[in-house]
Amino acid sequence: MPLPSLSTSALEYSDGGIGVLFLDADGLSDLGKAIDEKASGHVSHVLETADFKGKLKEKIEIPAPPGTVMERLVLCGVASDEPLVWTNIGGTLARFAKPGKTLTLYCETNDGSLSSDEVAALGEGIKLGAYSFSKYKSKKYKDDNGEKDDSDPSVVLACSDPSATDAVLMQRLAIADGTLLARNLVNTPPNDLGPEEFAEEAEKLAELGAEVTILGEAEMAELEMRALLGVGQGSRRESKLAIIEWKGAKQDKPVCFVGKGVVFDTGGISLKPSGGMEDMKGDMGGAAAVIGLMKALAGRKAKVHAVGILGLVENMPDGNAQRPGDIVTSKSGQTIEIINTDAEGRLVLCDALTYTQERFDPKIVIDLATLTGAVMVALGQHNAGLFSNDDALSEQLIDAGHDTGELVWRLPIGPKYDKMIDSKFADMKNTGGRFAGSITAAQFLHRFVDKERPWAHLDIAGTAFGSPKTDTNSGWASGFGVRLLDRLVADHYEE
Ligand code: BES
Ligand code: MN
Ligand code: ZN
Repeated sequence: MPLPSLSTSALEYSDGGIGVLFLDADGLSDLGKAIDEKASGHVSHVLETADFKGKLKEKIEIPAPPGTVMERLVLCGVASDEPLVWTNIGGTLARFAKPGKTLTLYCETNDGSLSSDEVAALGEGIKLGAYSFSKYKSKKYKDDNGEKDDSDPSVVLACSDPSATDAVLMQRLAIADGTLLARNLVNTPPNDLGPEEFAEEAEKLAELGAEVTILGEAEMAELEMRALLGVGQGSRRESKLAIIEWKGAKQDKPVCFVGKGVVFDTGGISLKPSGGMEDMKGDMGGAAAVIGLMKALAGRKAKVHAVGILGLVENMPDGNAQRPGDIVTSKSGQTIEIINTDAEGRLVLCDALTYTQERFDPKIVIDLATLTGAVMVALGQHNAGLFSNDDALSEQLIDAGHDTGELVWRLPIGPKYDKMIDSKFADMKNTGGRFAGSITAAQFLHRFVDKERPWAHLDIAGTAFGSPKTDTNSGWASGFGVRLLDRLVADHYEE
């Protein structure tokens, strides 16, 4: 379905279209009572008959309420102690936004009108909840009569202070745009999204005022990024490094975000089994989160100096592919023995991390990667793994997770785990054996982080794709990380 266009208006009844009233356990709001009066008590009669309690997710639809020209009135329960409730409520209302129709949300409860933040959260939820990935379905948006209506649904947020709300809403919609970009990229099939196509998506952020640079294989060879290049050497597609810089404030040390962008991970010569391999189109979820974050920051003109760095490669088996046993010299000068060509993400990230620190001297650096299957064994699909050398940064990330619902759980790193990746032939090997697979992967990355540099690694293998359906997501690609990191920036790194 096309995404709805959202706007605000005064908190007044408007005839026609579909209307939504919010109710908690105490029943109708003032405006609700006025509508009930117009309808000669029909609304309160329905509430009584249906024994409506105003619980979260409780909804009743009244078609064509008498005395009005509304097509439909939706009574939506909102009583809840949970946080994030308005974003989720918005998500559940997205299905009422129909092409060519107007959906009006009366942003008020029995306790009075909703705050601007709450109204904006509703708007964000609607946008996220309305998203579906139907680009590759040939029969799109057809109604029961086979007619196609792809005009945008329009959603009006009728609220007490429309102009103040507009400003907050624009910010929240920019963040939602970033999340949807990440979802789109993760959902896109790998034949249509190689490193080059991904880099083109990065270049589009120039339209929002970001500075974008793309490096190809020759430039990366010049920079001695042999660990990254080794991963892509079995692919016909050229590896790329995309650098997206947003200078929304004069801060000499930027905050930097590095994303694993393996556009498809076959495992290489250490080939993966075929069952479920199609999911490896999502192995660029880290890079998708970073580009989505940069879109959000630029879109809402965040007062921050931020840089996103995307390592874009394809991991394929081929006559020229990297072998187990190969030893590569990374950009940092450290040598790596390849034990398993399927542990490729860390090889991409280590050179991207070195490049990032040398070029930008960042205040903090955070990398995101669908790095290990093991993190799903440890944490399932509801927390990303967090690994860090910095307690303060970890706390900030955990808090941002609670505020956005994109949860992270800290796992340990330390010298005993570090020893597990020592190699007989080189400085380190790229796998650490069967135990603690997510931790040894983090330990590998840690070897490329400067001493004293605040760093965090988010293993999003369990949260970026294959995600269950929620109020704000129709499933699979989640866009995990965009809202989390946007919040981190807003709370701690903006001027
Ligand atoms: N991209 C995978 C990790 C992954 C697996 C993400 C499943 C999402 C779902 C990564 O490149 C990988 O293959 N990791 C290996 C590492 C192992 C060879 C040390 C893994 O997790 O099995
Ligand atoms: Mn792999
Ligand atoms: Zn991978």
